[in-house]
Amino acid sequence: MPATTVRPLTILCLASYEKGAEFMRECKRHGCRVLLVTVKALEHAPWPRDVIDDIFFMIDMYRRDDVIAGISYLARTEQIDRIVALDDYDVEFAALLREHLRVAGMGDTTARYFRDKLAMRSKAQSGGILVPHFVPAINNTALAEFMQRVSPPWVLKPRSEASSVGIQKINGANELWPALDRLGDRRSFYLLEKYVAGSVYHVDSIISETEIVFSAVHQYGKPPMDVAHGGGVFTTRTLERDSPDLPALLSLNTALINTMGCVRGVTHTEFIKGTADGKFYFLETASRVGGANIVEMVEAATGLNLWREWAKIEIGGEDAAYTLPARREDYAGILISLARQEWPDTSAYTDAEIVWRLSKQYHVGLIVASPDHSRVSELLAKYMARITTDFSTSMPSPEKPTS
Ligand SMILES: Nc1ncnc2c1ncn2[C@@H]1O[C@H](COP(=O)(O)OP(=O)(O)O)[C@@H](O)[C@H]1O
Ligand SMILES: [Mg+2]
Repeated sequence: MPATTVRPLTILCLASYEKGAEFMRECKRHGCRVLLVTVKALEHAPWPRDVIDDIFFMIDMYRRDDVIAGISYLARTEQIDRIVALDDYDVEFAALLREHLRVAGMGDTTARYFRDKLAMRSKAQSGGILVPHFVPAINNTALAEFMQRVSPPWVLKPRSEASSVGIQKINGANELWPALDRLGDRRSFYLLEKYVAGSVYHVDSIISETEIVFSAVHQYGKPPMDVAHGGGVFTTRTLERDSPDLPALLSLNTALINTMGCVRGVTHTEFIKGTADGKFYFLETASRVGGANIVEMVEAATGLNLWREWAKIEIGGEDAAYTLPARREDYAGILISLARQEWPDTSAYTDAEIVWRLSKQYHVGLIVASPDHSRVSELLAKYMARITTDFSTSMPSPEKPTS
């Protein structure tokens, strides 16, 4: 019998934001055909064109019928094996397209648990995971009852945004009703919840056939909302290996991923440790790598690149066993701030532990890494002060996410 030629796997990537180059590069290294769908506005972004077989631009990637029609047209001539959402905003459409074209992978129901903060809260709660008291911003009686039962402050937050966009702190009923009025018909896309003062942590994981095969736990400096709204330097760093919070966060993360039903891929999950009661509350989860250069930081601490590992897992699908490469157990920390200078010069920052520098207009950023946790903390403290003096500026919080 003549040998049948094996067709390369075709991976369709959706990216409404410029990211995921390393994911696409890894797909190409494995011999895949890489297709990218993005928006017209990003036509000239520095996509890794050398590994992309074909690139398509849509005027708007959020119009359901247009997306279905466009990708189905493409599917007349391409046999699409995988559909991957590189950015959080693409997760629903990737799921919608998988369902429509009957491509394997995460479907609508699970995608909603990773995108809709209301759905993920209800689901986490049903799995016995502690969440801040919450109520959908839908029914007036339910909202009034919530405000009677749960003391302020509260946060009014969009169900499907990212990067703290659109989140408002609400101090009482007199502030809530006008805020809801301002939202008008958009209000049902919001939820109201108890503001839990505390420290925010993130757990970034790799999932292979429902098993969590890798997790890295980090703690943000100032809570992300405070940085987004009040300015200052965004920081996060690897949690100390012997911290009593580590096993607690890892087991919560496992419970959460199992409850949500993620089969394969990567996740970025956040928890708040309440200052008042010392308990961990589930904040949010996402079926993607963390933003704000968390990938580079995790790589500095562990040697593993989450984009690359995610690509391997997607390519393997349910048929191929995934083996996690050896990981290091070092510590890393990142600092990012808005800068007054268009291209801030950090060449005077010379500590040997600096392993990465951000190159982004009007931003400054560094990653430091060391086998010693206290050294990372020391460097973060030092650079936080220095960056504030040398570069920082305060700007109003963005209307649109920045990463
Ligand atoms: N219930 C809450 N209590 C205290 N802070 C909160 C609460 N919800 C959100 N925040 C703050 O807002 C930030 C963003 O909220 P999050 O739910 O993670 O949305 P996203 O990161 O997608 O914008 C958090 O990192 C935290 O600083
Ligand atoms: Mg968040």
